[in-house]
Amino acid sequence: MPKVVIANDHGAVELAVTLTEYLKKMGYEVNHLGTTTEDSVDYPDMALAATTEFKKGGYEFGILLCGTGIGVSISANKVDGIRCALVHNTYTAQMAKRHNDANFIAFGGRVVYREEVEDILDAFIDATFEGERHQRRIDKIMALENRN
Ligand code: RB5
Repeated sequence: MPKVVIANDHGAVELAVTLTEYLKKMGYEVNHLGTTTEDSVDYPDMALAATTEFKKGGYEFGILLCGTGIGVSISANKVDGIRCALVHNTYTAQMAKRHNDANFIAFGGRVVYREEVEDILDAFIDATFEGERHQRRIDKIMALENRN
């Protein structure tokens, strides 16, 4: 069974439930590390929890959620090895995999999307990394981690 790790802050409790249920229905094992209440938590802690778990291995990808998706994606992209894409629609979700080989996808629980979030997630899941020139660019992204 493919595995996904998901974490959210208080800004995306409902969206976390929606996506967790959807993924389970799709046959995924979902490891939910996010909060389940509206009590305020800090999104960098959620990003750290999910990315740390992902890096243990065995996960197909990870999902991070906060009010906008911005805070969790900024945080996750500070973690070595993580490429977290804050996607807006099925097009950007698909391209996040095809060109950027993203291993995390981020959404905002307070964002109004023009497409169903499940469809956006599907576009990411169904896409395949194209390699070739995109691999060269990914290598350059990852090399940025060793610059300092
Ligand atoms: C929390 O209020 C909010 O700032 C957070 O969920 C997120 O939107 C940050 O980027």
